[in-house]
Amino acid sequence: MSRLPEPYKIKMIEPIRLISREERKQKLIEAGYNPFLLKSEDVYIDLLTDSGTGAMSDRQWSGLMLGDESYAGSRSFYYLKETVQQLTDYQYVIPTHQGRGSEQVLFSQLIKQGQAVLGNMHFDTTKAHIELNGGTPVNLVISQAYDTSNQHPFKGNFDTNKLESYIQQHGEENIAFINVTITCNSAGGQPVSMENIKAVSKIANKYHIPVIFDAARFAENAYFIKMREDGYKDKDIRTIVREMFAYGDGLTMSGKKDGLVNIGGLIVIKEDEKLFQQCTSTIVPLEGFPTYGGLTGRDMQALAVGLNEVVEIDYLHHRISQVQLLGKLLVNYDIPIQEPIGGHAVFVDAKKLLPHIEPSEFPAHALACELYIESGIRGVEIGSLLFGRDNKSGKDGLSKLELLRLTIPRRVYTDNHIQYVAESLGKLARKRSQITGVNFTYEPTILRHFTARFKPI
Ligand code: F0G
Repeated sequence: MSRLPEPYKIKMIEPIRLISREERKQKLIEAGYNPFLLKSEDVYIDLLTDSGTGAMSDRQWSGLMLGDESYAGSRSFYYLKETVQQLTDYQYVIPTHQGRGSEQVLFSQLIKQGQAVLGNMHFDTTKAHIELNGGTPVNLVISQAYDTSNQHPFKGNFDTNKLESYIQQHGEENIAFINVTITCNSAGGQPVSMENIKAVSKIANKYHIPVIFDAARFAENAYFIKMREDGYKDKDIRTIVREMFAYGDGLTMSGKKDGLVNIGGLIVIKEDEKLFQQCTSTIVPLEGFPTYGGLTGRDMQALAVGLNEVVEIDYLHHRISQVQLLGKLLVNYDIPIQEPIGGHAVFVDAKKLLPHIEPSEFPAHALACELYIESGIRGVEIGSLLFGRDNKSGKDGLSKLELLRLTIPRRVYTDNHIQYVAESLGKLARKRSQITGVNFTYEPTILRHFTARFKPI
């Protein structure tokens, strides 16, 4: 594929500013060596997340003006509902304020105390909502996902042998549902193939277990299927999206990723009317009346437009190729990254880059701190810090991978910014032996990575 520049021109800008190296050092000390605690105005290029950080189009902004703010029966809700029905071929649509709101409502209806939820790799909030509902999250991704240099084209796939033997061992009545995360964020934004989705659905049908998609990055997953899987090259993205969802019974979606909006989410149910009715009564006290679910009319309007734009092939070509660009530039600088490069982020393998730092001294977090001092770029650790301590032994450094996630917001940065990110990491890599690990000065007991404070060793 030849690579074209950004498929848009810029109509409005938001200034960003690189403060001096001395200031960056000072700001990081004030933030307790935790980039999460930096003020965004002190960050030059923010690659913390692709969630809710994208830029809306002129069509979306004009949609905001058309939003119908009626409490019940909003016109914007019906527009969103029809858009989602066309996209998914599912019948029932419930808006929520964001992905975790969808999880909270839907999971409370699907999980009975003690049941397991089998996933390729559950995202943090998904895992938390399974546990809050008395369930056990189980990850059954293929083992290749844990090897950052393995070139498997669909590293988000389920190990279907493990999936079936888990069901046989524990009994189908002890499984609440199968959760297919597309693309698989926790495995590095890695896609799931149509063949694998089909195989998972076959096993699910055999044992009468529902299949629910975590569809936050559904369009990126469909794009990888088109590019990498036999038989899909000539199919358009909408056709692939509908085929993926045909193998499931429902989905939760964070609209903050492939919905191309700053806030919003969805629960969509294929045909189970009873489940839909249960969700509509649960959602009232948690999110709001079922025709707004925690969103304003204008939010729903913008989400509907975003869902139509995200499946446009020119958008996806550029989106994915920009992430690939960053990955390829880093490889040119001999920086070890997770390969193949995923859909929304490049993951730097800090275990390989900084082998002199023990996992318990958080190499990827140390790298995030140094990258900020070097260049004002903010990335995030996905490794032992995020993983937390073992509940029983209290031991640290347990994650299989120590990654620095450089997450690319949608339609926000140009290829020039990407170039700067790669050059900055390249410069830092030349000084890698000077980078030291970090120790806690404050360690919260839950979700420690958000608020912990550190000092360099
Ligand atoms: N599922 C996946 C796969 C996600 O990546 C996220 C969020 C959620 C569910 C929850 O959605 O944030 O709208 O409540 N991921 C963000 C990230 C936060 O940075 O990867 P939400």
